[in-house]
Amino acid sequence: MRYTEHFDELCEALEGAGAFLVVEDSIGRVNVMTIGWAQLGPVWGEPVLTVLVRPSRHTFALLAKASHFSVCVPRRGELKQELAFCGSKSGRDYDKARACGLKLKDGAAKGIKYIEGCGLVYQCELYGSTRLAEGDPAPAALSGFYPGAKDLHALFFGKVIKADRSV
Ligand SMILES: Cc1cc2nc3c(=O)[nH]c(=O)nc-3n(C[C@H](O)[C@H](O)[C@H](O)COP(=O)(O)O)c2cc1C
Repeated sequence: MRYTEHFDELCEALEGAGAFLVVEDSIGRVNVMTIGWAQLGPVWGEPVLTVLVRPSRHTFALLAKASHFSVCVPRRGELKQELAFCGSKSGRDYDKARACGLKLKDGAAKGIKYIEGCGLVYQCELYGSTRLAEGDPAPAALSGFYPGAKDLHALFFGKVIKADRSV
């Protein structure tokens, strides 16, 4: 499917209970984190899904070394408890996929895992990253989201190599 298809569904999930960001480390361990912020569209002539991750997350350290990630969007109203768990517990303390009974499947390239049973899956190759600095967000965003100007998000750009429905 074209990567922009079902964009509304992606946004609805992000604005609701969230979606899963799945990252595999160099020895095959997989961490799952809930995200509510992402952007989808063309960048550098490529289809890009950008995720925003705070440096305090375990996922940040994993992404800094990763080659790929996936974003897995549950069907409307599904996997809410799992989203809440993966959005409140850290992969430093839990194997969250195992704890939630999420089944991981191999993606289209080495280094990609995705969650079986999600309605929408974006498989991405890491295509660059950047980190917000204190002067970047508008003052209202800075004071609202970053008390003490700390833990500003990093943006990880993922080139969408496969976007699938119902996998
Ligand atoms: C609905 C929801 C959306 C979230 N969105 C984000 C996000 O976009 N970026 C982020 O850095 N943290 C986000 N979080 C917080 C992380 O999911 C949470 O801190 C998680 O425990 C981090 O896991 P990790 O330490 O295994 O990476 C969100 C949490 C929830 C519940």
